[in-house]
Amino acid sequence: MGEKIEKKKLLDPANPTSPIIIFTLSLTSSLCTAATTAAPTAYDLLKTYNFPIGLLPEGIKNYTLNPTTGKFNIHLNRTCSFSLEDSYQIRYESSISGYIEENRLTGLGGIRVKVLFFWLDIGEVDRSGDDLEFFVGVVSANFPVGNFDVCPQCGCGMDCDFVRKIKNE
Ligand SMILES: *[C@@H]1O[C@H](CO)[C@@H](O)[C@H](O)[C@H]1NC(C)=O
Ligand SMILES: *[C@@H]1O[C@H](CO)[C@@H](O)[C@H](O)[C@H]1NC(C)=O
Repeated sequence: MGEKIEKKKLLDPANPTSPIIIFTLSLTSSLCTAATTAAPTAYDLLKTYNFPIGLLPEGIKNYTLNPTTGKFNIHLNRTCSFSLEDSYQIRYESSISGYIEENRLTGLGGIRVKVLFFWLDIGEVDRSGDDLEFFVGVVSANFPVGNFDVCPQCGCGMDCDFVRKIKNE
């Protein structure tokens, strides 16, 4: 499809001794798709249900989906945490589950946000037009869908200096 794929080896700031590999595609919406496999990835799954791929971090090991009920399970290679908009600490456990339907993720388990000193479960994410609404208990916060165009990288999230640098080139 004419996308340019660059492969860069960079140091993970959370763990400077282990190099991580970042794939950059000129189409940001394709950032997390696996170029070599025909089977839909978990990122394709998000797109099918009208969610941006950036709701899931890099490093998905496998997933299962029951298309009838929408129940899904996702396994990540490792837990993953990063900060969103420089203000929210988000943490993904290595196992994430929930139910997906168009514009709605419910019964979520394994995704948490740090509020003051506590890690609280994000139980639901709804899409309404160009906004994503995240629910923590009865409290919710909205973010523009465009914030989730790229997959967050564990350790530095969507705000990595090098990501910004690559984009500005
Ligand atoms: C995750 O782990 C699997 C093997 O367990 C490996 O094949 C895959 O490349 C890893 N993916 C990432 C993004 O680290
Ligand atoms: C996915 O990976 C997890 C963690 O390694 C493993 O327990 C599970 O059996 C795997 N599931 C599938 C469907 O391969």
